[in-house]
Amino acid sequence: MQNIFDQKYIELYAHDITTAKRTEAEVAFLKAVIPPKTRVLDVGCGYGRHTIALAKSGFDVVGIDSSEHMISEARKNASESGCSPIFILQDALTMSFHNEFGATVSMFSSFGYFENQRDNIKVLQNIYSALSFGGVFVLDVANKNTLLEPLLRHGENKNGTYSLSLSERLAGYNIRTTQTFDEKNNRWSIKREWTDKHGKSHNYSLSTYLYEQDELVGMCEQVGFKLKNVFGNYKSDAYLPAKSPRLILVCTKN
Ligand SMILES: C[S@@+](CC[C@H](N)C(=O)[O-])C[C@H]1O[C@@H](n2cnc3c(N)ncnc32)[C@H](O)[C@@H]1O
Repeated sequence: MQNIFDQKYIELYAHDITTAKRTEAEVAFLKAVIPPKTRVLDVGCGYGRHTIALAKSGFDVVGIDSSEHMISEARKNASESGCSPIFILQDALTMSFHNEFGATVSMFSSFGYFENQRDNIKVLQNIYSALSFGGVFVLDVANKNTLLEPLLRHGENKNGTYSLSLSERLAGYNIRTTQTFDEKNNRWSIKREWTDKHGKSHNYSLSTYLYEQDELVGMCEQVGFKLKNVFGNYKSDAYLPAKSPRLILVCTKN
């Protein structure tokens, strides 16, 4: 898989999107569904937002990520915040933990990047294998319906591929953002383009599969998980397809 999670991702997201306030709300949500002091595997831990906060709250946490840059930033952030969770450079597709964790979490759209759904299912199998019996799995992805609403409503449709460009202010830059969604393969892409203060042009793109609730639940059940709850945000409100910002599954391994 091409690694798109680099310094540009952090620069664009950390300033206005993955803020300290947001992380606090996400971690409060996790602490409400994971028993205290549980051993937790953070799958796609990024630069360590949840891993570090959970470690500071007394959880025994391991963060894995397939991006070398993210893992090195996570280690740096952990050492600056005075805690020492374990970070491993590891693709979830090939990880092999067995019944070792009381909880596994996949936060803020860290799932669904493989183009072949068999690979995404294999990731779920590996997460299932990592969990001990009775353990909890939290899977947090964007709500496809609310994410796509402006694009499907205002975008241009060429043979089932929708696209929409707009301007946004992000991380202190004026950014041209183009989103596309291909309804034939359910892939959503976003490309951001901006010019820095020295006049240098930059761009950042990512692409992921977007799941409907039934499809994602079906995949989790297929690998053995039992669905406990479906939330639509980090305040633990129920998932409402037309309104919720997130689709958050809480499953257990029975
Ligand atoms: C949108 S970021 C979110 C990071 C982090 N969970 C957060 O909330 O800040 C997605 C992360 O998932 C990681 N990721 C995606 N697919 C992965 C895979 N197959 N194995 C390990 N990490 C993966 C990426 O490298 C990236 O750091």
